[in-house]
Amino acid sequence: MRKKIVAGNWKMNKTPKEAMELVAMLKDKVDTDNVDVVFCVPAINILPVVDALKGTNIAVGAQNVYFEESGAYTGEISPAMLEEAGVKYVVVGHSERREYFAETDETVNKKVKKILEHNMTPIMCCGETLEQRELGIEIEFIRTQVKCGLAGLSAEEAQKVVIAYEPIWAIGTGKTATSQQAEEICAAIRQVIKELYGDKTAEVIRIQYGGSVNGKNAAELFAMENIDGGLVGGASLKEEFAQIVNY
Ligand code: 13P
Repeated sequence: MRKKIVAGNWKMNKTPKEAMELVAMLKDKVDTDNVDVVFCVPAINILPVVDALKGTNIAVGAQNVYFEESGAYTGEISPAMLEEAGVKYVVVGHSERREYFAETDETVNKKVKKILEHNMTPIMCCGETLEQRELGIEIEFIRTQVKCGLAGLSAEEAQKVVIAYEPIWAIGTGKTATSQQAEEICAAIRQVIKELYGDKTAEVIRIQYGGSVNGKNAAELFAMENIDGGLVGGASLKEEFAQIVNY
């Protein structure tokens, strides 16, 4: 039985002071007994949020990492820095990073490997554009993203990865994929994992849905056979996030 995982992706929101307020508001409201809960916060908020969450079971995630150990990479943050700061999860390959910051399947793969090497869990994102969906090539496209992202990983390593299916047309638009649409793609992702690694890995790997998840639609989405939780943007910045976690 896969444990559900609900992660809030704060994106570029909340100053350190505002982050403390949000954590204080949410931390006692989310039920962490039955669900793994993660706050993926902006880099500058990692240390104070780790500190503020001590004594809870809420994990802290980063939204990006660089794939080199250290050196002349101005502006980047290394996997060792995140690990030492207490980060447990790292979002990688989010569509916003692919679109605005030149993330590619190849850099996603390098980052996934580094994150695992540093004992953290990658939340590896994939998802199609509206145009790709209209052309009927969404499954083919997502299969490729998943295969490239996991390239070179052993089954044991792949089992630790969380995959987030986020259709780009559903992100921040208020337009959620129907639970059937989301389930169809999450099942297709599990099928790719099965082809690459066999039944056991396909059975244990966790697949989230993301894209306009809210307090109203979470229960129906998370009830689907192949959906193991959510990656939540806008609604993770509000009290509504507790409703989603406690669906
Ligand atoms: P929204 O929940 O705001 O649509 O964002 C989804 C997302 O991109 C999470 O990573």
